[in-house]
Amino acid sequence: MSRTATRTLRLTNDAVYRGDLLLINPDHPLRQQPGDDALAELCPGVRLEKKAAAILARVLEAIGAGRRIVAVSGYRTMAEQQAIYADATARHGPEYARTYVALPGCSEHQSGLAIDLAESAGAIDFITPAFPYSGICQTFRRAAVRYGFIERYPKGKEAVTRIGHEPWHFRYIGLPHAALLTRLGLTLEEYTSWLRGYEHGKNPYLLEDGTHAWELGFVPAAEGGCTEIEIGAMPYTLSGNNVDGFVLAVWRA
Ligand code: DAL
Ligand code: ZN
Repeated sequence: MSRTATRTLRLTNDAVYRGDLLLINPDHPLRQQPGDDALAELCPGVRLEKKAAAILARVLEAIGAGRRIVAVSGYRTMAEQQAIYADATARHGPEYARTYVALPGCSEHQSGLAIDLAESAGAIDFITPAFPYSGICQTFRRAAVRYGFIERYPKGKEAVTRIGHEPWHFRYIGLPHAALLTRLGLTLEEYTSWLRGYEHGKNPYLLEDGTHAWELGFVPAAEGGCTEIEIGAMPYTLSGNNVDGFVLAVWRA
C-alpha cells in the first residue's frame, strides 16, 4: 500500500495578517507594514513589494507598453496615506476623499501590493489618474489578471468595496486567485467570503484551466494561537486573509 507523503505546516496566528491575499478595508486594517527590504523601486518615487514589482514589470514588458503606461502611486507609508487623505479632503471635500482615498491604516497601498497606473497622455491626476477601458490600458487590464493582478474597485461594486470605481488601481493577489476571482466576477471582499465555503482537507475547490489544476481551500485560524495544516508533497501557495484564517492553493499535476 502506498502512502502519500504529508507535511505539517505550523502557523502562528500572526501569519493570518501576512500574504498576497490580505483583505484590506475599513473592517480589516493592515496589521503589518512591509519593511524597506521587502520593497523595490519601480520608477523614481514609486515602490512596490518586490515580487509584485517584478511581475508588474513582466506584464508591461509582455504587452509592449513601453512608456505608454506610467506608475503613479505604489507603496505608501501611514504618514503618506494620512497626508493624501487630508489633502484630498481639503481640495475636494470629505465626500470625494471618502470615495477615492482609503482611510489611513486601511489602504492596500500601505501593504505594497497595490499600484495606481496612468495612461501617459498629458497631465496626470495623482488621486484619479486616467486609465481607460481601451487601447494599451485595456490590454494591460486583461493581461494583468493572468499574472496575478486584479482591478480592485470595479464599477457596480461600490457598496461592497466602499470605494468608488477606480479603473487605475490594481492589486496583486497572485495566481491562481486573480484569474478565478475575475472569472467569478467577485470583489476581494466577496472572494474572501466565497473561499470560506471550501475547506482544505474537507471540501476544497478544484480549479482547472485546461493546463493547470489547483485545489483551493480555506483553513480557519485555530483558537489558541497555532494552526496546524496537513498537506501533501505537491507545491502550494499560502496566504493569510487578514480576517480569520488562511487560504491554501495546492497544485495538482
Ligand atoms: N485609492 C485607494 C482606495 C487607496 O487610497 O488605497
Ligand atoms: Zn490606488
